[in-house]
Amino acid sequence: MNSKKNKLLIYGATGYTGKIIAERAKELNIDFEIAGRDPDKTRKFAEEIAVDYHIFDVDTEYAWQKALLGKQVLINAAGPFKFTAEQAMRACIKAGVHYLDISAEMETYRLAELLDEEANAAGIQLISGAGLFVSYDALVVHLSKLVPEPEYLRVGFQHYGGFSRGSVLSSKNIADLGTLIRRNGDIVTNPDPKSKIFSFGEQEVDCMATPLGGIILSYKSTGIPNIEEFFSLKLPATEVPDLTMVNLPDGPTKAERAAGRNGIAAEITGRDGKVVKAWVDAPSGYDLTPLSVVAVAHRILNNDFKFGYQSPGSAYGEDILQDIPNTSLVDMI
Ligand SMILES: NC(=O)c1ccc[n+]([C@@H]2O[C@H](COP(=O)([O-])OP(=O)(O)OC[C@H]3O[C@@H](n4cnc5c(N)ncnc54)[C@H](OP(=O)(O)O)[C@@H]3O)[C@@H](O)[C@H]2O)c1
Repeated sequence: MNSKKNKLLIYGATGYTGKIIAERAKELNIDFEIAGRDPDKTRKFAEEIAVDYHIFDVDTEYAWQKALLGKQVLINAAGPFKFTAEQAMRACIKAGVHYLDISAEMETYRLAELLDEEANAAGIQLISGAGLFVSYDALVVHLSKLVPEPEYLRVGFQHYGGFSRGSVLSSKNIADLGTLIRRNGDIVTNPDPKSKIFSFGEQEVDCMATPLGGIILSYKSTGIPNIEEFFSLKLPATEVPDLTMVNLPDGPTKAERAAGRNGIAAEITGRDGKVVKAWVDAPSGYDLTPLSVVAVAHRILNNDFKFGYQSPGSAYGEDILQDIPNTSLVDMI
């Protein structure tokens, strides 16, 4: 890669989460530019945070190449990613720029997997799901090293902080998939989904069987053949009658985000029956995602990356947790 590529580009930076990502990049003094499809919003936000900007539609190939000039890494924050990930990934492959997004949509993880060879040839790292999955996957990698032959992984995710409008819109792409699990290495529909109780420190929470993406990402990180995931809130797509509703707030306010914590609890069973458990105590979701994706971008800007399709865990293991403020991993006996 050209050594003069040393900047970050954030696409979709005017969205609720994109703005928090840009603010975090500012906090870390990262040299970055923003991009978005809406001229007024993009210009206004760029002026507010005093960075250069690019305005273009996600389908405009030449504009991607122009905006990616001089960049080392892209954070794509423009979701639903079903409509933006492929264009952005292909643009990054063409430009030789590392790709990150904060997607929670399994289709984009699969797309990254399919583009492995092309990303390798371009000398770039491709991670779809570098938001909440950074600490999730770090926890899984940590536990997987404590059992000689890990066979079963079960993860409970306790989300705090409500949902942004963008997440509600994107969650339709997730809810439509049904309750997927990994069984003997394959992704299958769970014929009999049941809830499960997880301990988040002192708190015991009954979590609903819900596929979150670890069945792809943590499988990439650890190769554990059986993975089941659970969530402590129902996905809003099943509860919100009209997903186009305009009255939904952009997302939780700063004070609302600060009022609670996210918890990720995991347990792994080895072939010999040994069970190991740990949990991660982290800031609430819409603080955690920006902290996480910017931590990964920061690593890349310091030339810490692998080539091809990666998960957060396959690229950075548990070590990346040190880069996420106010986040700790607690082993449970
Ligand atoms: N798993 C995680 O870690 C995590 C956490 C937070 C968010 N997310 C995901 O991140 C995504 C964004 O969430 P959000 O809360 O920031 O949503 P948001 O406030 O609606 O922002 C979405 C941003 O993407 C842009 N965008 C949307 N569709 C686009 C398209 N087809 N072409 C170009 N730009 C497009 C929007 O531009 P306009 O303003 O022009 O519409 C806006 O800038 C969602 O998919 C959400 O699920 C994931």
